Amino acid sequence: MSALVIVGTQWGDEGKGKITNFYASRANMVVRFQGGANAGHTVNVAGRKIVFHLLPSGVSVPNAKCIIGPGVVLDPIALVEEIEYVRSNGIEVGDNLLIDIGAHLVMPYHKAVEAAEEQARGGDAIGTTHRGIGPTYVDRYSREGLTCGDLAAFDRFQEKLSAIVSRKNDVLTKLYGAEPVDLGTITEQMKAVAEVLVPYLSDTPALIRSAIASGDNVLFEGAQGALLDIGFGTYPFVTSSNTTAAGVAPGTGVPPTWIGEVAGVAKAYTTRVGAGPFPTEATSEQASLICERGAEVGATTGRPRRCGWLDIVALRYSLALSGIERIIITKLDVLDTLPVIPVCVAYTLDGVNIDTFPRDIDALRRVQPVYEELPGWESDTSGARTSAELPEKALAYLKRIEELSGARVAVASVGADSDAIVEFEQLL
Ligand code: IMP
Repeated sequence: MSALVIVGTQWGDEGKGKITNFYASRANMVVRFQGGANAGHTVNVAGRKIVFHLLPSGVSVPNAKCIIGPGVVLDPIALVEEIEYVRSNGIEVGDNLLIDIGAHLVMPYHKAVEAAEEQARGGDAIGTTHRGIGPTYVDRYSREGLTCGDLAAFDRFQEKLSAIVSRKNDVLTKLYGAEPVDLGTITEQMKAVAEVLVPYLSDTPALIRSAIASGDNVLFEGAQGALLDIGFGTYPFVTSSNTTAAGVAPGTGVPPTWIGEVAGVAKAYTTRVGAGPFPTEATSEQASLICERGAEVGATTGRPRRCGWLDIVALRYSLALSGIERIIITKLDVLDTLPVIPVCVAYTLDGVNIDTFPRDIDALRRVQPVYEELPGWESDTSGARTSAELPEKALAYLKRIEELSGARVAVASVGADSDAIVEFEQLL
């Protein structure tokens, strides 16, 4: 059996899209298991930059079966647009895509409720992506959700929708003083998307299990990052799904004992979009330069990302949550110009040194990073494809990350192009 899970170890935007795409070329199946169109997985395909939000990045690779699993919250209007967008970029979407019947639908009223909630939070707003993610998971857990499978029996779907919209409009108008949504418009929108999406519907868990059992290479594509996990992230400044490897089992129907290798993706520095604590956030000239060189703008919302240095304390926490022994360091080339590279190796909390990531958010807000300064290599790594082509000091930097994190570096990514990869160890 061969299953590889790729998850983010920071606050998302670690470059998972490119990495998934790299492994997808060796996979028979690529599965999304959580999150929704809040994700923005950027992949360079044949010289073009393509951003995937709901489709597994594997659709850009011929022959891989791509599955949107039951743990995903799926915005059907966004998915239909995305299918058109990727097709217009020459990517085939046909019987290589399956959508699980149990994936919950993100409806227009979810986005309306989210906008009203965020506004009501005022200065405490989470800074969500406004893709309806939180309210859709809320409805799932309160057993008031609509699933992709519901679209297949449209008369019944319409009945359920009518009852739900009336309740949502009460919330929107009476609780938040917001505009109601229009049942007729939503019904028409759903009828149109159902025609496109119903042919892709499938009962996917058994297919995924049988692919793994028959020895196929199955890749699980995580979205967001461990520090945005609903249970273990920097709550409440998190997303609403399980972003660690633990999300694979409930998000796909694959037994936890079948989940093989878990690889964690970490950017060589750290970024965060949205509000919430970020101990190594930096505003120095060097940090701004990194932000600029790394083109750190949100792939989904276009918001500028907050930037800072690599945080080993947070990384060790994320590795522990997902049982990660091998990591993938992305955007190494972004550090090429720095004479010195700060890496956070511990925190001080109220004057006391600590080396663990506080789960208490108020404590996390108070920590001060303790930095080790590593020598920069001050040369271009973007052309390196083998370890021998990387400068000594870049290798030493990776070695130090290994020592500090306790994980081995399996791959380093040195540019946006799909082949800008140095593979030290083969995971799939
Ligand atoms: P939501 O997932 O839209 O509810 O947003 C909750 C938090 O997660 C916000 O801080 C978002 O900026 C962040 N977030 C959600 N998806 C991503 C992502 O794909 N990359 C980075 N941050 C994300």
